[in-house]
Amino acid sequence: MRDLNLITMASKILIIGSSGQIGTELVLKLRQIYGNDHIIASDIRVGNYEVMKSGPFEILDATKKEDVLKVIKKHNVNQVYLMVAMLSAIAEKIPKKAWELNMSTLFLALDLAKERIINRVFWPSSIAVFGPSSPKTNTPQHTIMNPTTVYGISKLAGENWCEYYHNKFGVDVRSVRYPGIISYKTIPGGGTTDYAVQIFHEAIKNKSYTSFLNADTTLPMMYMDDAIDATIQLMESNNISKYESYNIAAMSFSPKVLSRAIQKYIPNFIIKYEDDTRQEIANTWPQSVDDKQACKDWGWNSKVSLDQLVRSMLNGLNYKV
Ligand code: SER
Repeated sequence: MRDLNLITMASKILIIGSSGQIGTELVLKLRQIYGNDHIIASDIRVGNYEVMKSGPFEILDATKKEDVLKVIKKHNVNQVYLMVAMLSAIAEKIPKKAWELNMSTLFLALDLAKERIINRVFWPSSIAVFGPSSPKTNTPQHTIMNPTTVYGISKLAGENWCEYYHNKFGVDVRSVRYPGIISYKTIPGGGTTDYAVQIFHEAIKNKSYTSFLNADTTLPMMYMDDAIDATIQLMESNNISKYESYNIAAMSFSPKVLSRAIQKYIPNFIIKYEDDTRQEIANTWPQSVDDKQACKDWGWNSKVSLDQLVRSMLNGLNYKV
């Protein structure tokens, strides 16, 4: 366990959305750092076995302020990581519901911080805040942002609200724009970058995968360990200059490039392409983002390369390489 000062010792952190792809691993890492009892996991559904058995867990509907408040009071929580969101592809199918969920949960957390019931909030944004008019490569922190998806619109609006609550009410809310996140413990659902996780499961099971994005669709991506490090580093930093959301980068690849990296370990793996509506979403997103502000402010630096990512995914899924 890390050397903790008195303030950190007193910290109780609530993860809302702890059964999701990022929430699951965030809980496990935070418990390693701060101790199991300091990290309260919560979700509307039960989650990963390790999360459930290693510390406190509450069934919680993130849209119900009274319920959230009850959990916060019960555990004496002072920080919240709000990991609830409807992702890009599913949000296109139920736009109003997605907008409602993504925004109402954010407002709930921001208001708790405004009322000083909690003192710090983490809220995830996404590369989806960029749109067809944004620069495609090395997309800057500040640039033209014209998202064309419901998810991207909700994330950009959310970023603006975070900054507003910070400027107007002194709310300490921190955020990163996650790229596609690759992990093996919990599968993502409803996203455009999900192919890059599914491909590993299918490569191991069937030696073949049909990608819903075409061969050359390059998108920014990151291994889960890097994403978790970035999140915690940002939350622990004393040098924050941006209260909208930080670009963070690790690598960029297309389905073709990823399939070649997998073929190094599974030579008979074949990839086919059959794009669907998710292709239209991917076409509007950047291929890479410029994260120098995050590097400068809080020392962000990715550690996991594409080859390390592939090896970790295969090993994690019990295909030993
Ligand atoms: N991974 C997300 C999605 O595909 C992007 O933030 O929707």
